[in-house]
Amino acid sequence: MSTPRDLQTLYEQGKNITKLLREEQGLQHNTDDIIEIAYDLQTGSYIDDMENAAMERYKKDYTSEIAKTILSLCKPTSILEAGVGEATTLSGVLENIEAEVSSYGFDLSWSRVAYAKRWLQSKSISNSTLCTGNLFHIPFADNSIDLVYTSHSIEPNGGNERPILQELFRVTRKFLILLEPNYELANDEARRRMDFHGYCKNLKAIAESLGYDILKHNLFPFTANPLNPTAITIIKKDDGTMSPSYVLACPKFKTPLEEIGDMLFSPEALVVYPIVGGIPCLRIENGIFASKYKEIVSAG
Ligand SMILES: C[S@@+](CC[C@H](N)C(=O)[O-])C[C@H]1O[C@@H](n2cnc3c(N)ncnc32)[C@H](O)[C@@H]1O
Repeated sequence: MSTPRDLQTLYEQGKNITKLLREEQGLQHNTDDIIEIAYDLQTGSYIDDMENAAMERYKKDYTSEIAKTILSLCKPTSILEAGVGEATTLSGVLENIEAEVSSYGFDLSWSRVAYAKRWLQSKSISNSTLCTGNLFHIPFADNSIDLVYTSHSIEPNGGNERPILQELFRVTRKFLILLEPNYELANDEARRRMDFHGYCKNLKAIAESLGYDILKHNLFPFTANPLNPTAITIIKKDDGTMSPSYVLACPKFKTPLEEIGDMLFSPEALVVYPIVGGIPCLRIENGIFASKYKEIVSAG
């Protein structure tokens, strides 16, 4: 079994890390551990890509179209990109939205969130809250975000589409937009590639089976790789529910967190979640069970 250090070397040699880990573990699908390692090792590559004129042009078109779509639906007071990567999509969306909006992003990978934070600062975007988190246990309260979107983050989680859609829908207050590869509308070559990488499938059919109100589902006009065509799926939730008084939440119980001693404490889980390099680490496995944390830290 390769160590993370081995994997770092193999990544630098151009090896496909998700494929290698799937083979080592005898798996057909990616696990969240595999996705975390593979994406964390690539940290910096998306920001580097922004130096490429063609990629920068594509990102401008892609993000302005997302912003246009959002504004055609509502004027959100809060936006979340789930699986935010290095925030190279979020920054473009926010620049095109222009209005005052609280923005949020989370990702499995701490390194990518750290790069995302620095990237947003370099773009003078200061009203964003970023943390680590998992699409399977999103560290946000129910109905806490007006508009939630994904941009190719469900992609590597093939086989787990249903629980992920349920989590995204839980956090959404008004609209959920999925910008994800579309297997069903893709050609044979693209399908073979998606099968090989363990990409998601059938998002529309799964959303329908969950009874969601799908406003739109078609190919998106901008796609980085023709072998990975992006589709847009817009799901409406707005049922008049009030937003809760808190946004970040315990990933296990979705209950409020208290900031105590530079950490986030969950009174429900009796778990303390660390803040590392200014980034709240809100994956369930990041938490330390500490029933006496509050008592000890409050006593000084
Ligand atoms: C293809 S990248 C896209 C990044 C970003 N959304 C963008 O548009 O540039 C996919 C991202 O989703 C994240 N991701 C994948 N599965 C995840 C999961 N289960 N929970 C949280 N993040 C996840 C990865 O770590 C990676 O940063």
